[in-house]
Amino acid sequence: MERSPIDFDDVSPIGGALPAPEDTPIVVVDDEPSVLSFLRKVLEGEGYPVETFESAQEAFTRISQGGIALLIADIVMPDMSGMELVRRSLEEDPGLSVLILTGAADTESAVESLRLGVDDYLQKPISADGLIESVVRALRHQAQADYRDKLEIWLRSEVKRRTDEVQQRSREIEVVAVATLSTLVRAMEAKDPYLKGHSERVARLCERMAQHMGFDAQDIEDVRTAGLLHDIGMIAIPESILHKEGELSEEEYRQVRGHVEVAAKILEPLSHIARAVSYIRCHHERLDGSGYPQGLRGSDIPLAAQIVGLAESYGSLTERRPHRKAYSSKEALDTLNASRDVWFEARVVDALEQVVKSEPEPAGSQPEHPGSD
Ligand SMILES: [Fe+2]
Repeated sequence: MERSPIDFDDVSPIGGALPAPEDTPIVVVDDEPSVLSFLRKVLEGEGYPVETFESAQEAFTRISQGGIALLIADIVMPDMSGMELVRRSLEEDPGLSVLILTGAADTESAVESLRLGVDDYLQKPISADGLIESVVRALRHQAQADYRDKLEIWLRSEVKRRTDEVQQRSREIEVVAVATLSTLVRAMEAKDPYLKGHSERVARLCERMAQHMGFDAQDIEDVRTAGLLHDIGMIAIPESILHKEGELSEEEYRQVRGHVEVAAKILEPLSHIARAVSYIRCHHERLDGSGYPQGLRGSDIPLAAQIVGLAESYGSLTERRPHRKAYSSKEALDTLNASRDVWFEARVVDALEQVVKSEPEPAGSQPEHPGSD
């Protein structure tokens, strides 16, 4: 932990007398001039700056200006009672230290002083030592309160700074994790002549479709990430199934369908791409409920997941497979048009069509013959 920015010596909660700094005087208010001059003499003798007032109203005007270390107030005064002055002063400055010094002590005002949080309730006549003892105690009490306030502020800011740091680091780690997983996907696909570059192409298509549909920057990034990692769950599917040329058995098909849940499990710890993961989990759901894993219908399927699903379908159709040649763009779009409002919302199919027509997939993005490279 870094060194606290507080000057601990400055507000030490222990130690001896704490003279008020010169710009924070002790305000003394009493309608008896002899009392005022006694208090001034004693306090100034101890090095405290003092401002005296015979009028409670004038004292209040001064207190309202702020910068007061301590208020010492009489109770019985002609223009305003000391209790009223204290109540109003504490409303102005709740942290103000206050001593009551009265010649007419009574239970009622003593209880009221306690209620207001007055530091000490003193009776006249008071000795110089007794006064100084109370002043030091009140100022020390205030210094401790200031110290606690500063410490709390510093601790809060320190905790926030550390939390931000940890979050920033965890974001960086998660970004690295996504980059690592993308590399893994690329490596997996590189081994397969039919799939080489598939996820990159799907990701690019997802990004362009999301842009075309007016998604904001974060949504576009989430859809692109979902496109990039949509089939990472295929890692759990045996190669014998992935490369099987004939029809899949029911059990094999069940395993292939499991790739979405496997992907979601692999990616679950990456909280910053949680939305992308939810799109991956839903990218084989279809509007008519015929999809998997949950058989969601209609608007229960996120639009972004439909983008990933349609981009994946288009990507697959335009790639060679063991049992068929690659579809042309037009053939793929015609085929997918049949799924309009059945598997995918019309606006998603339209987006694909617009995007593909505006910028067709560059030729040669996949080897013409498996194993040719
Ligand atoms: Fe998939």
